[in-house]
Amino acid sequence: MRPLSDDDSDSSKPHSAFIESLSSFSRLHRAQRWEGTFGEFLANIVPANPAAMARTSHEYIWDMLRWHGNRAAAVDAPESSKARELFKRELFGIDEPLGRVVDYFKAAAAGSDVGRRLLLLLGPPSGGKSTLAILMKRGLEEFSRTDEGALYAIKGSPLRENPLNLIPAGLRAEFRDRYGVDTPGELSPWARDFVEREFEGDFVRVPVERIFISESSRTGIGTYAPHDPTTADIADLVGSVDLAKVAQIGDEGDPRAWSWSGAVYAASRGVLEMIEILKVKREFLYLLLTMTQEKNVKVSRFPLIHLDETILAHTNLAEFHKFLQEKENEALLDRMVIIRVPYALSYRDESRIYQKLVSGAPAFRNVHLDPHVLNLASVFAILTRLTKPEREGLDIAKKLRIYAGESVEGVPETEAVRLHSESGEEGMTGVSPRFVINAISNAITRGNTHSLTSMELLLAIKDSIESDARMDAKHKKAWVDHLVTARKEFYNRWVKEDVHRAMFASFEEEAQQLLEKYLDEVEASLDHRQVTDPITGETRPADERFLRSVEEKIKVSDSGKLSFRQEVVRKAMVAFKTGEKFKLASHARMREAIEQYLFEERRDVLRLVTSTARPDDDARQKISVVQQRLVTEYGYDEHSAKEALSYVTTLLAQE
Ligand SMILES: Nc1ncnc2c1ncn2[C@@H]1O[C@H](COP(=O)(O)OP(=O)(O)OP(=O)(O)O)[C@@H](O)[C@H]1O
Ligand SMILES: [Mg+2]
Repeated sequence: MRPLSDDDSDSSKPHSAFIESLSSFSRLHRAQRWEGTFGEFLANIVPANPAAMARTSHEYIWDMLRWHGNRAAAVDAPESSKARELFKRELFGIDEPLGRVVDYFKAAAAGSDVGRRLLLLLGPPSGGKSTLAILMKRGLEEFSRTDEGALYAIKGSPLRENPLNLIPAGLRAEFRDRYGVDTPGELSPWARDFVEREFEGDFVRVPVERIFISESSRTGIGTYAPHDPTTADIADLVGSVDLAKVAQIGDEGDPRAWSWSGAVYAASRGVLEMIEILKVKREFLYLLLTMTQEKNVKVSRFPLIHLDETILAHTNLAEFHKFLQEKENEALLDRMVIIRVPYALSYRDESRIYQKLVSGAPAFRNVHLDPHVLNLASVFAILTRLTKPEREGLDIAKKLRIYAGESVEGVPETEAVRLHSESGEEGMTGVSPRFVINAISNAITRGNTHSLTSMELLLAIKDSIESDARMDAKHKKAWVDHLVTARKEFYNRWVKEDVHRAMFASFEEEAQQLLEKYLDEVEASLDHRQVTDPITGETRPADERFLRSVEEKIKVSDSGKLSFRQEVVRKAMVAFKTGEKFKLASHARMREAIEQYLFEERRDVLRLVTSTARPDDDARQKISVVQQRLVTEYGYDEHSAKEALSYVTTLLAQE
């Protein structure tokens, strides 16, 4: 990775650009403010879009998701996939759960009963639940600053209630006829008192303002995290009598003497994030479930308080299992929509997570990672999350590759789809992204190094496993075994490929030629045709020995060769029809076969160059060229290139 910014010649530019965007941000912000009486609101704001003014929080969130989707996704993408865009910025490999979250809001916005159930994200530790909540909160903040997302509230109301709630019961039918929408809810005790006291009931004069969702100013976003359950007080959620004010006002039942500081009020009109919700007292849980179901809360002094907000709760598996053990909780579960958020199961997605975490961490800023470090760490992580496949001929490494979308010998695509749908509990256990990232940072800080190789990574992870006090011996052994698998089945292949390519600069070209030769021979063999030699014009039968020697590299059996060849030809035809060249990159297994073929053909050359104990000048020169190429073309640095070369030499010696 390149250190940031050093080569920006005009270093003042980023500053001024930043200041510019700051000031345009604040201009925008100011311009959008609006304040007026309820009468003006009805006359000037509502008619333009009555439906938007009457939105519930679920509808608002659904609109927000679509708004982000429309900005980010391709125009013709399906709606539900667009609506995931907000989350896909930062969450990888969990598309399916994201789809469920989006579906929840879609259904709730359409008035389905699911909106009356609490949304609970259930997943293993550091699996992205909080991140999902954060993205949603940031998404709401941003949306509320746009025209489409403009929100208005009774000015001064601690619940920032919808001004349309001011319309008295007797006039609601008429309002409906005129604007075509229902009034969304009821006035709070605070607002009722306010309208009477300050305006003698003349609600038309009540002040209304545009509001902007903001977590830091507790507007439209509330967060509640349980601390010690024995001291947790329901007042944190719904407020309590403010004794100082009672002394002033003299009446405990006066809404002005209530402290409206609870999280449910902060969240009004937006979202209430409940962290580790199952840790809260049952009393809290009932209150929250009732609030989702009935849209109101009951506190001692007042009649029911109408509240419009969405609860987004999360919890981890351990807590969930504990919760399930109590019989009385079953009824509560019925009132939740539980969405499982497992870890990613494709190592490519997992690798993107690490890439994101690493590029954001100062500790990594000046550290070079060899090109396989993150992928290898990901392979290890996914191995710990998978269950052993039952099917014959399939091992866990193959399964892992199938999950990453690679084609694997002897496993038809339909089987891959079936495997996916059976994954069930997979991804709910295993190593977390945090564990891996911590292992890497430890290796970096401890080694005080500026370059980390794949082998060093494996050692670092091994170290972390062995020093982990929470794991028993059996568990540790299983994970260390996964490290071995990751090295043998993945890293060895990857690094050999790199060294190999670097040794032979024209590798890609030769590989492509070989692929074309293979295709020609296969076609001839399938059609029982003769092959014509382009130079001599002589004909001969297809070169079966060549075909087999390629196929054997990836263990295509004699009985399986026919179907393998047909499949390759079919793919080549498809490519041909769409006007593309059939490339090695489009067929993972062919690529592997051909690379192996070329590799073995040249193994001896490689051996000679890299393994002489005292290389002569000529050999030394050759090595340094390879090393250089690894650096310039394959993402290595000096240190990791050297390591890779000597590692591959050892591998060769063992073959
Ligand atoms: N699927 C994912 N895609 C992108 N980043 C992820 C993913 N899963 C986890 N992360 C990253 O891992 C870190 C931990 O995730 P997060 O805090 O969101 O997990 P959590 O599910 O809330 O965990 P906990 O149960 O421990 O609270 C975050 O930095 C997050 O960005
Ligand atoms: Mg969390």
